[in-house]
Amino acid sequence: MSDHVLEISNLTMRFGGVVAVDNFSMSIDKGEIVALIGPNGAGKTTAFNAVTGVYTPTAGKIRLLGQDITGKRPDQITARGIARTFQNIRLFSGMTVFENVLTAHHLRRTSNLFSATFRLNAAEEKSQRADTEQLLRYIGLYDLKDEMATSLPYGKQRLLEIVRALATKPKLLLLDEPAAGMNPQETDELGSMIRRIRDEFQLTVFIIEHHMNLVMDISDRIYVIEFGKQIAEGVPEEIQNNPAVIAAYLGVDDE
Ligand SMILES: Nc1ncnc2c1ncn2[C@@H]1O[C@H](COP(=O)(O)OP(=O)(O)O)[C@@H](O)[C@H]1O
Ligand SMILES: [Mg+2]
Repeated sequence: MSDHVLEISNLTMRFGGVVAVDNFSMSIDKGEIVALIGPNGAGKTTAFNAVTGVYTPTAGKIRLLGQDITGKRPDQITARGIARTFQNIRLFSGMTVFENVLTAHHLRRTSNLFSATFRLNAAEEKSQRADTEQLLRYIGLYDLKDEMATSLPYGKQRLLEIVRALATKPKLLLLDEPAAGMNPQETDELGSMIRRIRDEFQLTVFIIEHHMNLVMDISDRIYVIEFGKQIAEGVPEEIQNNPAVIAAYLGVDDE
């Protein structure tokens, strides 16, 4: 079989009359940062939702490290090593920064928040707390550990979501518009952060993003979709100069 980290084959996702993803295929190799771009409504988030088990594909196969994960539940997919962040931030409100990350450690093994907050044995608890502390220090949020997560500035909430995803020890990290709402400086910092965590945690990264500077700067390869179908694939330079991409997307989107 293949040694791709992620392989999507002929994925189709239909909602009633809407074909959100249409016979889309792609793959990502270990250590790559690959972007999925395209106009609003192109089907990008839907593709992420199919990969993470939020939706069962209408057709097609999804493989993680050669194993078929098509139709598995989100918690099973998390346990096998895929973590994600969301286009609309989904932190646990009512929890501190520290608790948000600590709780995520438990999500790797349990399917719901109720059992995730159950008491662990002391040794396990201690090691998860140490790991939480280390992750927060690494990403520069440790000083804010006792703040309520949802009281952080927007850019920091986005970083916290990434830390929380890292706490599940993923092999593949999916980021859905991580720079949305960030100012240019935060966006720059995010770019170097994504590269740093890829190296440090030996991750493979799959990113949806509209900030073209960020995409062109960090991506090894880029897939472009429109109306659920691939219109281009290539390295950043090829994508920037691709007439179909410029017509469909780059030429009309000034973000
Ligand atoms: N759960 C759903 N039910 C019905 N239609 C959906 C659902 N999720 C997404 N869609 C539709 O699928 C298309 C692609 O949406 P989406 O994947 O969110 O696009 P993108 O992330 O590229 O902006 C849109 O037309 C959207 O309205
Ligand atoms: Mg989206």
